[in-house]
Amino acid sequence: MANNSIVIGAQWGDEGKAKVIDYLTERADVVVRFQGGSNAGHTVSVGDSKYVFHLVPSGIINPGKICVVGNGVVFDAEAFLEEVDELVKAGVSVEGRLFVSDLAHLVLPYHKALDAAFEFGLGAAKIGTTGRGIGPAYADKVSRVGIRIGDLRDWNAFCRRFVENIASAVKRLTTPEGGVPDLDEDSIVDRCYKIRQRLLPFVKDTAYYLFEAERSGKRLLFEGAQGTFLDVDHGTYPFVTSSNTTAGSACSGAGVSPQTIGNCIGIVKAYTTRVGNGPFPTELTDDTGFHLRAVGNEFGSTTGRPRRCGWFDSVMVRKAVQLNGFARIAMTKLDVLNDLDEIKICTKYEIDGKTVEQFPTTIQELERAKPVYEIMPGWKQDISGCKKLSELPTAATNYISKIQKLCYDVPVLLVSVGPDREQTIEVASL
Ligand code: GDP
Ligand code: IMO
Ligand code: MG
Repeated sequence: MANNSIVIGAQWGDEGKAKVIDYLTERADVVVRFQGGSNAGHTVSVGDSKYVFHLVPSGIINPGKICVVGNGVVFDAEAFLEEVDELVKAGVSVEGRLFVSDLAHLVLPYHKALDAAFEFGLGAAKIGTTGRGIGPAYADKVSRVGIRIGDLRDWNAFCRRFVENIASAVKRLTTPEGGVPDLDEDSIVDRCYKIRQRLLPFVKDTAYYLFEAERSGKRLLFEGAQGTFLDVDHGTYPFVTSSNTTAGSACSGAGVSPQTIGNCIGIVKAYTTRVGNGPFPTELTDDTGFHLRAVGNEFGSTTGRPRRCGWFDSVMVRKAVQLNGFARIAMTKLDVLNDLDEIKICTKYEIDGKTVEQFPTTIQELERAKPVYEIMPGWKQDISGCKKLSELPTAATNYISKIQKLCYDVPVLLVSVGPDREQTIEVASL
């Protein structure tokens, strides 16, 4: 593996990034989250243990590795501390190896209330957010009124800022009943005071830490959250999250220079899923869609919502290659296709009678896009125990090769055939 790598979801999130991060952590020293917040649901399965991370980097269960939550993350301190408690209960020590940037912005209860109110206000056009207050917290950040973790150090200054912000939030809020929201200012301040005591030991200038770590030869692994098509600029706007999810954001979100980044690994699910609203050209609302959801256990790790499922869309993944510069692809959840007689791959779209090979830049066009499919034979056998590429049936390797060819021939680094760490076939080296 090149010294430092970024792992990025190539679709609409939930591609299996956490599984790959956990797998690659063995070859890294520091794992870094750089954007998003507790909207992320990152699942790692090792034997009988299953961990779902929202803010803590997915490398944490690897003993001795350092994990960093960078400045680009919007940080729900209570959610973070709950995760820490769960880890400690599971016997994972975080002492001295989990750090949080003092520059990361706090997600506070009024951000969640604003998230719910904005969604309510959108009615049928709602985004389908995770309700974790992500959009309003990023909005405060770019409006220059956010409260950062480092602000907790000066309690009086924190309280002054808090009082101003909550008053402004209350003005902006309308509850579904049109009344004043139930935000108990004093109890939120009390909660923040308690959090402060526990949180401050994790807090540091993480950009400086990463700079020194790199200088001393440590290998960094950057963990993307969400996926390329949820990027606030390049995704299916407005049905996106509120951060840049593409590779470029690792630099600003962790405070590292572009020279730090060695390469980018794209995580590609063998089919496509999406949680929340917005266009989805290859969506299957028939029995095959239900089959993929049931076999792939496609229910949100954060909200439990059923994920929408559809065929693999190479038009999307080509754009993800273009935007992120994937040096390698990791293909996940290939085993979910085990029982299908035939498998479709979207090779291009037809929009208003014209063939289109590039992903449209507007959702109006995307909504009119009809997928053009190539049909591949299924392999109709269980591949979840395969340990080597040579053990996979020819139909499965043909499927992988076809996708690779359609996606600018980016080499495949690994193929995942089950949720467990062990169910990973390494194909190429980095
Ligand atoms: P992330 O958000 O990209 O980290 O992905 P999630 O953790 O939200 O969702 C991926 C789900 O698929 C998790 O439940 C994983 O345990 C599971 N998973 C990952 N890789 C595989 C695989 O190759 N096969 C199967 N069947 N499940 C997988
Ligand atoms: P991971 O990291 C899948 C989706 C939400 C919604 C939109 C905006 O596990 O892949 P937000 O709460 O961010 O304002 O919601 O983005 N979304 C995700 N979908 N995986 C995620 O994260 C997601 N995080 C947000 O469903 O459509
Ligand atoms: Mg997820």
